[in-house]
Amino acid sequence: MAKTSTRFVCQNCGAVHSRWQGRCDGCGEWNTIVEEQPEAPRAPGPAGKSRGGRAIEFVGLKGRAAPPPRTRTGLEELDRVLGGGFVPGSVVLVGGDPGIGKSTILLQAAARIASAGKRTLYISGEEAIDQVRLRALRLGLTDSPLGLAASTSLRDIAASLEEEQDCTLVIIDSIQTVWLDSLDSAPGTVSQVRACAAELTRLAKTRNFAVVLVGHVTKEGTLAGPRVLEHMVDATLYFEGDRGHQFRILRAVKNRFGATDEIGVFEMTDKGLMEVANPSALFLAERRGNISGSAVFAGMEGTRPVLVEIQALLSPSASGGSPRRQVVGWDSGRLAMLMAVLESRCRVSLGQNDVYLNIAGGLRINEPAADLAVAAALVSAATDRPTDPDRVFFGEVGLSGEVRQVAQTDLRLREAAKLGFAAATLPRRVARGGRPPGKGPEGLRLAEIGHLADLVAPLAAAAARKPAKDAPPEEEAAEEA
Ligand code: TYD
Ligand code: MG
Repeated sequence: MAKTSTRFVCQNCGAVHSRWQGRCDGCGEWNTIVEEQPEAPRAPGPAGKSRGGRAIEFVGLKGRAAPPPRTRTGLEELDRVLGGGFVPGSVVLVGGDPGIGKSTILLQAAARIASAGKRTLYISGEEAIDQVRLRALRLGLTDSPLGLAASTSLRDIAASLEEEQDCTLVIIDSIQTVWLDSLDSAPGTVSQVRACAAELTRLAKTRNFAVVLVGHVTKEGTLAGPRVLEHMVDATLYFEGDRGHQFRILRAVKNRFGATDEIGVFEMTDKGLMEVANPSALFLAERRGNISGSAVFAGMEGTRPVLVEIQALLSPSASGGSPRRQVVGWDSGRLAMLMAVLESRCRVSLGQNDVYLNIAGGLRINEPAADLAVAAALVSAATDRPTDPDRVFFGEVGLSGEVRQVAQTDLRLREAAKLGFAAATLPRRVARGGRPPGKGPEGLRLAEIGHLADLVAPLAAAAARKPAKDAPPEEEAAEEA
């Protein structure tokens, strides 16, 4: 029989070690290993009927498969990220930095569901009742029949939830503060978080209500401890955004009941989080035309097209050492690759300049389709000439400089046309009939290019012809009429 000695568990990835060490072999993180008491030893020997197991019943694949009935919050942006609302019996993990607005949005959503006549409970382990009430007062939600409690004891919470008839939604704010007294570890440790989440999941499935677990995020941007939770829950949503910006983006990274990579956009106001129905207009609101180093990217976030401004700045390296590469909102490895392709395939010299790249508005872009827009911003900065302010860019760039197809071309173009753009630079499409080349939806002029050089040449030529700065922007790519 296994010895019941203490064990050392990494709080980041959950790996178990036999002794303490500074660095976890599992995930490579430092100082994440904490001593924990082992879970109760399991009964030894083979499991099976002789040990009291019951035979399970197997069924065929045919049968009732009606889509699960959902509870909509009425916050469109949240409902879409959830895949259409909360599914009964499901567990949703909501992660994000402290202060980003997790408690605020969940209180707003819970109060709306409660106001619709559905039993909704909000259990706060972080804040006292009065603090939550104060927030509700500011948000104008005090009339909602929401059930509010402050508790951290999972035993008490479970006992209360067992009593509930017909409950729709339970919010646990946060999973790191609740604890089970049968475990010796402190609240927030992997064992506690895992055991509490398992118990809440069991309750959700048996009592058929939806549970939302709030989880905090570490400096590195992963859910602290609860990373082990991502496997257990049905959906994981991250709440991201810059504290310096009003925008908050709710992103689904896992969803058993909907699409991932779907985003919801909110704006933090003094009345709580407001939905932003047209994020492109918001992200482009502060754009100033006729400035070099800026290009508009027609991107996709989940099922929705989103236009954002990409900004690049080159400045002579002061130190004389290796130049700085600073990126906000994009992958720095991808920037290095793109700069190498620009230098070796298109003879654009970025030289000993420091390069700064920024996605305006605080959005984080993961799509390779942004390559072409980033390249346009870089070339524009390098030649000190603005790109055409009425043009959007999208397309992936390969190592030989070839411009590759990306998904959802039509959706991107339609969004650009809707927001008043007149032209687009995009990958050359394989002729498939349909629309003639060069024409986009609603009269959008298309420059379909096959190589990065096709983007660079007109910009560079224009820069060579005229002194930069005050000159009007040129059409930078030959339009294929
Ligand atoms: P909160 O929901 O408490 O964040 P979390 O639960 O993720 O830690 O959000 C707190 C921040 O939101 C705080 O900095 C104040 C701000 N806020 C507003 O700007 N307006 C509001 O109406 C509310 C309720 C909060
Ligand atoms: Mg909170």
